[in-house]
Amino acid sequence: MQKIIIDTDPGIDDAMAVLFACLSPGIELVGLTSIFGNVTTDIATRNAKVLVEMAKCDVPVARGADAPVQQEAKPVAWDVHGREGFGDVAAITPAGEPVDETAAEFICRTVSDNPGEVALCTVGPLTNLARALEMDPSIAGKVKSVTVMGGSLDAGGNITPSSEANIWQDPHAADMVFAAGWDVTLVGLDVTHQIKCTPEDFAGLAAKAPVLGGFLNEAVQYYFEFHRRVDGFNGCYMHDPSAVISIVQPDLFAVEHEPLRVIVEGEEIGRTVRAAGSDRPATSVCKQIDVDAVRKVFLETISNGF
Ligand code: BDR
Ligand code: CA
Repeated sequence: MQKIIIDTDPGIDDAMAVLFACLSPGIELVGLTSIFGNVTTDIATRNAKVLVEMAKCDVPVARGADAPVQQEAKPVAWDVHGREGFGDVAAITPAGEPVDETAAEFICRTVSDNPGEVALCTVGPLTNLARALEMDPSIAGKVKSVTVMGGSLDAGGNITPSSEANIWQDPHAADMVFAAGWDVTLVGLDVTHQIKCTPEDFAGLAAKAPVLGGFLNEAVQYYFEFHRRVDGFNGCYMHDPSAVISIVQPDLFAVEHEPLRVIVEGEEIGRTVRAAGSDRPATSVCKQIDVDAVRKVFLETISNGF
């Protein structure tokens, strides 16, 4: 079983990723860390706790940073994910509380206690990872891998013409992560814009797994409406679950190896670019995805839930 910490800003596709991780037989979810992005850090922390309690996978949730490492905080994405993060689903109060450690403390301690075993998966802005690196740079040599849902090399942006939302929200943090010398895989728009779910997919999940599939089906309606309005199709991209799936089924993704950097000022701020000729370590950039197989893994895993 692969130990994973998911750093998340839930968020509708974040909910898809977290519930998948809770149900996947190949994953031992060891905790969630929360971050602003789709919602504020307060709402992200509450929603992270709600998700693990709902899935009966009540692992620790550690509260993350409230603002980017350098730039001012950007507005949250309520038009994409709803005011409370799960579309039109009303705010849910979790039974329990987040742990006392901060996200950075939780990441540093868990990685140090399990050297070579923990995969970090970020599906929100990279602030908590940057703060963890500042707190204890030795974690770069102790994590098993880092998988980042974010960025785009050749597919254009989704928040500006050149930039993807998670990187744009904290470009300085993302640039630190690409420079840190750990084993990073990028699951960006180059692949997530190839893979979609449909209203029929989620109606099927609600029928087969009424609690978890039913919740996702209710939340995702708002996401469908956003994609109909902005992207012109009746469905949604599978951004965050694709990142989690890439950790346990890397064979479903084809990668290129490129050193990366992030543009941290000017019109293209938040753009991920190749840093050819630099002394940065190569990142494994996912460029192709086996769409049918990844969709199947996701839909079957949630369907096997309750
Ligand atoms: C990313 O941005 C957020 O809106 C999604 O949850 C995903 O993590 C896609 O660009
Ligand atoms: Ca997210």
